[in-house]
Amino acid sequence: MAQSSLFEKLAAHAATFEDRSLRTLFAQDPERFAKFSVKQDDLLIDFSKTLLDDTALDLLIELAEASNVPQRRDAMFAGEKINETEDRAVLHTALRNRSGEPVMVDGQDVMPDVFAVLNAMADFCDGIRSGDIAAANGQAFTDVVNIGIGGSDLGPVMTTLALSPYHDGPALHYVSNVDGAHIADTLAELDPATTLIIVASKTFTTIETMTNAQTARRWIAETLGEDAVGDHFAAVSTALDKVAAFGIQEDRVFGFWDWVGGRYSVWSAIGLPLMIAIGPDAFNEFLDGAHSMDQHFADAPLRENLPVLMGLVGVWNRDVLGHSARAVLPYDQRLARLPAYLQQLDMESNGKRVKLSGAPVDQETGPLVWGEPGTNGQHAFYQLLHQGTTVIPCEFIVAAKGHEDDLAHHHEMLVANCLAQSEALMLGRTLEEAKALLKASGLSDAEVDRLAPHKVFPGNRPSVTIVHDQLTPFALGRLIALYEHRVFVEGTIWGINSFDQWGVELGKELATALLPMVKGEASAEAKDSSTRGLLATLTS
Ligand code: F6P
Repeated sequence: MAQSSLFEKLAAHAATFEDRSLRTLFAQDPERFAKFSVKQDDLLIDFSKTLLDDTALDLLIELAEASNVPQRRDAMFAGEKINETEDRAVLHTALRNRSGEPVMVDGQDVMPDVFAVLNAMADFCDGIRSGDIAAANGQAFTDVVNIGIGGSDLGPVMTTLALSPYHDGPALHYVSNVDGAHIADTLAELDPATTLIIVASKTFTTIETMTNAQTARRWIAETLGEDAVGDHFAAVSTALDKVAAFGIQEDRVFGFWDWVGGRYSVWSAIGLPLMIAIGPDAFNEFLDGAHSMDQHFADAPLRENLPVLMGLVGVWNRDVLGHSARAVLPYDQRLARLPAYLQQLDMESNGKRVKLSGAPVDQETGPLVWGEPGTNGQHAFYQLLHQGTTVIPCEFIVAAKGHEDDLAHHHEMLVANCLAQSEALMLGRTLEEAKALLKASGLSDAEVDRLAPHKVFPGNRPSVTIVHDQLTPFALGRLIALYEHRVFVEGTIWGINSFDQWGVELGKELATALLPMVKGEASAEAKDSSTRGLLATLTS
């Protein structure tokens, strides 16, 4: 059946749901959790608290097939140039390919180069961690500052925090924003004599990163002397010529390739700061976790395929039920930066309005992705999730075990809160229930009537819960790969290119043109009155 007919059928099916709710679905089927949850090893995804039923799931699976998800997935893994607007293969999966099988791009196996860079990274990390690769004064490095932005920052920064129990290397710091406050505050706490700077930029042209890199270079040169610069800098990039022009020693430069998208690059040399923090062995476990998800995505039948099911739930919520946002709510403080990471992964990939052909899309595409860790979010924006007028599907992430054995009671509370939130979103509280509770508290009938509407929770608000055993390097790699492939599944169904990002270009071009106006070196005459007015206010 054609895609359009399947979307029509899904819409017609959903239209029959008027008086159906999650409450009734659970009441009608005691097996609902078993039917609508999937497990791979210790990773479980429970999507029983969505409005999916067998018919909807059958149609969605058909939709994935009609959209050629399996074929396009295979093409991606095989190194075909599915990033058509940039004429590139999409092979972040090769970076964590542990199968021993070759991966071909343009007739060449890329795996020897992948392993050569991984080995060079491991040697460098071992040297930094042991002190064999030392600062200019011969001391071991105590701190590492990664300068990068977007994919050259968010992956390392998110994973470094996530895996802090595994840190046994120098302390990591991240500078991304061109706002001088970021680098000033970061460097203020550090001793240049024992600080290593990594400049991470796929293109080595990104203005924020280059500006911060020059500031860091001055900091080293002015405090330690120009001769110290070589010892205190390393770089990660695909543009090796530009790195050389910056003056970073060749043996301190770690490359990757144009078939690694920025937001898919944490597995490449962009992961160098993480490797320095946790060591090459733990970094390999991180890659192993991602590879296990790659294998699952490649091999599992669609109905048991975790990224496929996550993608289908996404399409169901976005296109069939019309929910324009989704909240990512990790009940894990160390995943505090996961929502920000997923914002780039998801919104830069699927925030598109034309199909591969250039024709307008047929459906709404990527939702607004946002979130904060629980339980903090509960005391901030959950009010809106429970009683606001907008329904926002939620994705909860929680581990069975924390790392703090002596604080197990904290973890029990964390788990109880996580489960309570998805239960509350699902069940809600009816007017009758609210009244009964108020009455039981001894209020008069008038008071009960006055307060009850405020205590009603509409419920029927969908959520997915992702559970794993513990946030280990393996589990984190697996989780990120799950989300990467989910974005891919959704993008494929929408027929868009999830691997370009032309939408960030216009702002960059205009900023470049505006800079001389901000400096007072060029006239703003041709600008609109708002831009002129703001410029005048900011520069007077
Ligand atoms: O924001 C656009 C973007 O190109 C991202 O896709 C990328 O991750 C980021 O800028 C940084 O780019 P680079 O690694 O080339 O400095």
